[in-house]
Amino acid sequence: MTQITLSEISKTYTIKHKPVTALSNINFTVNNSAFLVLTGPSGSGKSTILQLISGIEQPTSGQIIIDGQNITKMTNSELTTFRRKKVGIIFQQFYLEPTLTLRQNIELPAIFFNLSPEERNQRTKELANLMGLSEHLDHLPSQLSGGQIQRAAVARAIYNKPSILIADEPTSNLDHDNIHTVINLFKQIQQTYGTTIIIAAHDQTIANEATQVIKLDAGRIVI
Ligand SMILES: Nc1ncnc2c1ncn2[C@@H]1O[C@H](COP(=O)(O)OP(=O)(O)OP(=O)(O)O)[C@@H](O)[C@H]1O
Ligand SMILES: [Mg+2]
Repeated sequence: MTQITLSEISKTYTIKHKPVTALSNINFTVNNSAFLVLTGPSGSGKSTILQLISGIEQPTSGQIIIDGQNITKMTNSELTTFRRKKVGIIFQQFYLEPTLTLRQNIELPAIFFNLSPEERNQRTKELANLMGLSEHLDHLPSQLSGGQIQRAAVARAIYNKPSILIADEPTSNLDHDNIHTVINLFKQIQQTYGTTIIIAAHDQTIANEATQVIKLDAGRIVI
């Protein structure tokens, strides 16, 4: 069970000496094992919230408490440890290293943990099964379909059993069938591991599947 609370979060960027407010006074609590979808128009602050929860960016003011820890008070090295232990991130482009095989790509997060070769093999096998990738572990990304690449990116993000899985627009650029495949995969991960899933999406299809929806407009929560 993961508890995430954002209190009075504001984020202002400075562009050419001028302030740009990305978020103003954001308050919300993520429900336990939620499938949370952040929606709202372009520029409303969805990606910024994901970056703050994953500790990639720090807020200008306010607090983010995750399982009793105030991540806005952490040093960079504490944040890195927090991220490696607790958070899996899937970027929009499902980026895989082109020169590494599928197996090597999926196993990248294992660098941060002292897994024995047997443990690593076991975990890779389990995830390859879950994602339907067992036959493709020795292939390079260029030899995979778009759907297989997506599933590999999801496998890599959950490799270290994160309690929070974050995805930024994971269904943009996908066709109808692939949107449903990705949504079902997220639901399966949430139900199997109790992972808290936080997604930014324009797409209404994915918001319909959410257990919690937060709608943003111009950096504020709208109801
Ligand atoms: N690194 C940055 N430097 C300066 N301004 C930024 C930065 N990142 C985001 N912004 C600004 O913050 C606001 C919110 O951006 P954000 O990327 O969070 O929106 P979004 O809801 O994810 O939009 P989209 O749907 O287009 O991805 C925008 O006005 C944007 O220009
Ligand atoms: Mg965005």
